[in-house]
Amino acid sequence: MSDTAKLIYNGKELELPVIEGSEGEKAIDIGQLRAKLGLITLDPGYGNTGACKSNITFIDGDKGILRHRGIPIEQLAEKSRFVEVAWLLIFGRLPKRDELDRFSARLTANSPIHEDFRHHFDGFPVNAPPMAIQSAMISTLACFHQEFLQLDSHEAFEEVAARLLSKVRTIAAYSYRRSIGRPVIYPDPQLKYVTNFLHMMFSMPYKQYIVEPEVEQALNRILVLHADHEQNCSTSTVRTVGSSRANLFASAAAGVSALWGPLHGGANVEVLEQLESIHKGGLTAQQAIDMAKDKSKNFRLMGFGHRIYKNFDPRAKILKESAESVLNKLGVHDPLLDIAMGLEQIALKDSYFVERKLYPNVDFYSGIIMRAIGIPVNMFTVMFSIGRMPGWIAQWKEQHDDKDGRIVRPRQIYTGPTLTDYTPMDKR
Ligand code: ACO
Repeated sequence: MSDTAKLIYNGKELELPVIEGSEGEKAIDIGQLRAKLGLITLDPGYGNTGACKSNITFIDGDKGILRHRGIPIEQLAEKSRFVEVAWLLIFGRLPKRDELDRFSARLTANSPIHEDFRHHFDGFPVNAPPMAIQSAMISTLACFHQEFLQLDSHEAFEEVAARLLSKVRTIAAYSYRRSIGRPVIYPDPQLKYVTNFLHMMFSMPYKQYIVEPEVEQALNRILVLHADHEQNCSTSTVRTVGSSRANLFASAAAGVSALWGPLHGGANVEVLEQLESIHKGGLTAQQAIDMAKDKSKNFRLMGFGHRIYKNFDPRAKILKESAESVLNKLGVHDPLLDIAMGLEQIALKDSYFVERKLYPNVDFYSGIIMRAIGIPVNMFTVMFSIGRMPGWIAQWKEQHDDKDGRIVRPRQIYTGPTLTDYTPMDKR
C-alpha cells in the first residue's frame, strides 16, 4: 500500500498521497487540497514546497552531496570538462565521443555573434552593469535566431542549446572589452570553450593572451561547479517563465536577472567588496573575524556559511585546491588574497565558526580565483551566469517536455481592504 498523509479540517478528512523520490525524499501531493477542503498552502520562499519532479540534480545539504544525473560533483570536477557536463545536464547522460565532438563543433561554429547584434553593445553606457547587458543581450538573441522561438525537433533543440551556451561567453567578453575601451576580440575557432573565452577577454589585436593550463583548469572547474543547483531562485525563474511556453532565450534572460541579486549570484561580488573594505579600513584578518562574531555589530563574513550545505559546501572543497594551484602558478601578490587566506585559516579553527558549521562557500574561493586571473569583480556574477547556463537549459527543457506541466500560477492569501467604494476626488 502506498504511503499517505491525513489532513483533518472542519470535520472533513482528506488522504493525501505521499510521493517518494529516487533518493528517498518524500513529499505530500496536495493536488486535491483546494478542490476537496477549500484550502491552499502558504509557504513564503517555498522552503517546504516542491515545485516539480526533476531528474537532473540531487542535493543533500546535510551530507554535502551534489550530483548531476547521479554523478557526484567531485568526479565531474576531477574527470570532466564544462562542455561535457553541459551535455550531461542537457541531454541526460554522458555523451559518446561522436556526440561530444558534434556538440563542441556546434559551439565553435556558434561562437561569433551577428555583426548587427554586435552594434547593440554601442547603445549601452560604458559603465552599464554587466549583468544588465548580459540579460538584455540574451533576450535580444531571440531577434536574431527567430527560427528557434518554436522548437519542433531534437536537432533544433541541440542547435539552440549550443548557440545559447556559446554566445553567452562571447556576449560577456564583448561587454567587458567595451567597458574598458578595448577593441573586441573575435572568437578563435581553434580554441576550446574556456580558452576561447579568456582569449576574447584578454588578448589584444597585436598580442595573444597566453592561457596558463592551471588558469584554464581553474576556470573550467568554476564553470563545472556552477553548472546546476536544482530549484534555486534563478532556475525556478527560468522554469516559471518557460511554463508560459516562452522561448529559451526569454527564459534564460529572466534567469540572468534573477541571478543578479545579492542574495543569489551577486554574493560573489560581495565577498570581494568586503575584502576590499577590510583592506581599506586597515583591519587584520583576526579583527574582521572578531567583528563577525560580535553580535552587536551588523557584520557577517561574506563567503562563509550556506543555507543548504551545513557540513561543507562540496564545491568549495574542490575550489580550495584550485585556488592554491592558481595562486602559486601566477605568483600573485595581492593584499586582498592575503586577507582572504588569513580569514579562512582563522575561521576554520575558530569555535564560533566551527560550532555554527560556517565554512567557506563556493563564492569565497571562486572570487579569489577569478580575481587572481584578472577577471574584474563586476564580472563575477556574469561568470556565474555562463556557468549556470547548462542547468537553465536542461531545466527549461525538462519543464517544456513535461506532459503534466502547467503554467506556474501560485495562489495567495489576500490581506488587503475588503469591498470599498470608489471615493470621488473632491471627497478624499
Ligand atoms: N558570518 C558570521 N556569522 C554567521 C555567518 C557569517 N557569514 N553566517 C551565519 N552566521 C551565524 C549567524 O549569526 C547565526 O548565529 P547565531 O546562531 O548565534 O544567531 C548562525 O550563524 C546561523 O546563521 P543563519 O543566518 O541562521 O544561517 P542561514 O543558513 O540562514 O544563512 C547564509 C546562510 C545566508 C549563507 C549565511 O551564512 C550568510 O549570510 N553568509 C554570508 C553571505 C554569503 O556568503 N552568501 C553566499 C551563499 S553561497 C551561494 O549563494 C552560492
